Amino acid sequence: MTEHLTVVEHPLVQHKLSLMRDKATSTAEFRRLLREISQLLAYEITRELPMTTQQVETPMEMMDAPVLDGKKLALISILRAGNGLLDGVLELVPSARVGFVGLYRDEETLLPVQYYFKVPDGLDDRLVIAVDPMLATGNSSAAAIDLLKQAGATNIRFLCLLAAPEGVARMQEAHPDVPIITASLDRCLNDQGYIIPGLGDAGDRMFGTK
Ligand code: URA
Repeated sequence: MTEHLTVVEHPLVQHKLSLMRDKATSTAEFRRLLREISQLLAYEITRELPMTTQQVETPMEMMDAPVLDGKKLALISILRAGNGLLDGVLELVPSARVGFVGLYRDEETLLPVQYYFKVPDGLDDRLVIAVDPMLATGNSSAAAIDLLKQAGATNIRFLCLLAAPEGVARMQEAHPDVPIITASLDRCLNDQGYIIPGLGDAGDRMFGTK
C-alpha cells in the first residue's frame, strides 16, 4: 500500500455508513453497523499481508495451500472509541495481538496526554494497525502513532471510519509513512473539532453516553 489515504468506496461500506450517520439510528444498531463496516475495512487493510504456502491434504490430494506468513499482526485500539472498530477487525483476524493506547486532551495546553499504554511485544516485526473511528484534528492520532513508534513499530497503518481533511493533513505531516484507510473523507471540522457532516460523537453513539 503506497497511497497515504485510501477511501473504501465499496457500496456496502457506503450504505452502512449512511445509516450510521443518521441521528435516528439507535445505539444497538449503530454498534452492529460499526462491527460490520469494520470487517469490510479490515478486508481492505489486510489485502497485502505476506503469504506463504503450507502443505495441506485435501480429500483428493496433497497441495501447497496459501496461508498467512510472518508474525501475527497487532491491532491497537485508541481508547475509547477505537474499541468499536477493534471488535469487528478481531472477528476477521482472530489471531491478532491487541494493544490499547489511552490519551486525553489537557484542557489548558490542548495537547494529548497519555493515561494508558499497553501493547504486544515484538511490534518491530509486526504489521501494526491502529484503529480509531474518527480522524478529526489528528492530534491524538499522531500522538498515538508517536508512542507506537517509540515502542518499536515500523510498519503501521491507521484505520478509521471518517476522516477530516485537517486530520489527514496533520497525519501526513507527522507520519507520512503511515497509510490511512477510511470509509469517507468528510468536508471539514467545526469550531468544536467535530467532523462535518460526520456522525456526532462516535464514543457516545456506540456506548449510549452523552
Ligand atoms: N470525535 C468524534 O467522536 N466525533 C467527531 O466528529 C470528531 C471527533
